[in-house]
Amino acid sequence: MSEIQIFGLSPLKGEISIQGSKNAVLPMMAAALLHKGVTVLMNVPVIRDVSCMADILEYLGCCIRRQGDCLAIDARNIDRTGIPDHFVRAMRSSIVVLGALLGRMGEGSGCYPGGCLIGARPIDLHIKVLKELGAEILEEENHLTVRRGPEGIRGAEIHLAYPSVGATEQAILASVLARDVTVIHGAAKEPEIAELCDFLNNMGAIICGMGTEHLMIQGVRCLHDASFRVDGDRIVAGTYAAAAAAAGGDILMKGIKSSCLRVPLALLARIGAKLRTEEKAGRIRVSMEEIPRALDIRTGPYPEFPTDLQSPFMALLASGRGVSHIEERVFEGRFATAEALKSMGARIRVRDREAVLEGVHPLTGARVAASDLRGGAALVVAGLAARGETRIAGCLHIERGYEDICRDLAALGARIRWVKEDGT
Ligand code: UD1
Repeated sequence: MSEIQIFGLSPLKGEISIQGSKNAVLPMMAAALLHKGVTVLMNVPVIRDVSCMADILEYLGCCIRRQGDCLAIDARNIDRTGIPDHFVRAMRSSIVVLGALLGRMGEGSGCYPGGCLIGARPIDLHIKVLKELGAEILEEENHLTVRRGPEGIRGAEIHLAYPSVGATEQAILASVLARDVTVIHGAAKEPEIAELCDFLNNMGAIICGMGTEHLMIQGVRCLHDASFRVDGDRIVAGTYAAAAAAAGGDILMKGIKSSCLRVPLALLARIGAKLRTEEKAGRIRVSMEEIPRALDIRTGPYPEFPTDLQSPFMALLASGRGVSHIEERVFEGRFATAEALKSMGARIRVRDREAVLEGVHPLTGARVAASDLRGGAALVVAGLAARGETRIAGCLHIERGYEDICRDLAALGARIRWVKEDGT
């Protein structure tokens, strides 16, 4: 298995294109199941989670062709409704496939989902929305079957007690082909939800209320062929912005809307970074000439600070100056990376959902292991701000969401590379 080797303290300089968004493309791929035809997605990132979702769709009977950053999904001949356990365990977001299968085939099944180890991650809200749309749910040991009830899948008023991204997507996918109107109150407002709705509307769905907490979906009988370009990945861009702030330098990121990163960018400005954004052109420039100042961060549902950037920002603040606080309000298990950062000299105290960091500049290179996707990216940020050599194991986690983090950061002048097991 490959490791990442970093020699830190080289400032980052140059331009980089940001890959397409993982969290946008995965539910869109699931949504392609709703249409008895061909859907084309562009700007699709080459990452393990996309391959996993493609494998699931192929298993169900889709024919998938990939050319460059384009993915064509032909879902005319779906002949299975059960998702094998190993796929579901490999990637939590595969659970939204159930909503799409329910809409298209009237039935779907799979085991309880896996994914990153960042907390308990229940699926009660997913089950609630499917039930409210008229599905019958059969839970056996670790297995879940959802089936169209006697009255079919019909529009409903759904109230989400928490704006879960996955449960909102589940409700959208299950209701696009339902009878009548569905209203989701308390829906998640993440940009990836609006993008999923735009994509479905392009296919002939009727959804309005995007970007608000009330989504209205008028069910339609069928969808039509469509193509859609996926937006840049705000979490990847946020990671690279944190990397530039930690290592210092001046980078220009292309293919990313600054509006979806408003809070993280505002926080970067507070720790001393200079920012220039061009929303229309999709460009963000980050330059940093000082040691990062301290900061208080609270994660929360969009538009608050994204939990997915909490670990990369923890690495950034750990390598800054002064005392910072982080409150994690979305996933309770998201401080696991603090231990690895401590072995690089970071001073972090974690209590429940709060971390207190005393900045240490620079950190010290060490051998560490990634325990989840964003935590792995955080170790890369720390390695860039550390003296000497850092080696990161467990990189399969990182490959779930970053096309090639070494390629991207090396292009910006970082001394970073993949090292194979045999040392090459
Ligand atoms: C999605 C993102 C993930 C991001 C997260 C929060 C994808 C593929 N993943 O994950 O990167 O970190 O949003 O922005 O888009 N919850 C329940 N019951 C449920 C569902 C969720 O209690 O049925 C809780 C979770 O445990 C968590 C919170 O709600 O505490 C947020 O989860 P949710 O918004 O659903 O995140 P995901 O869709 O899993």
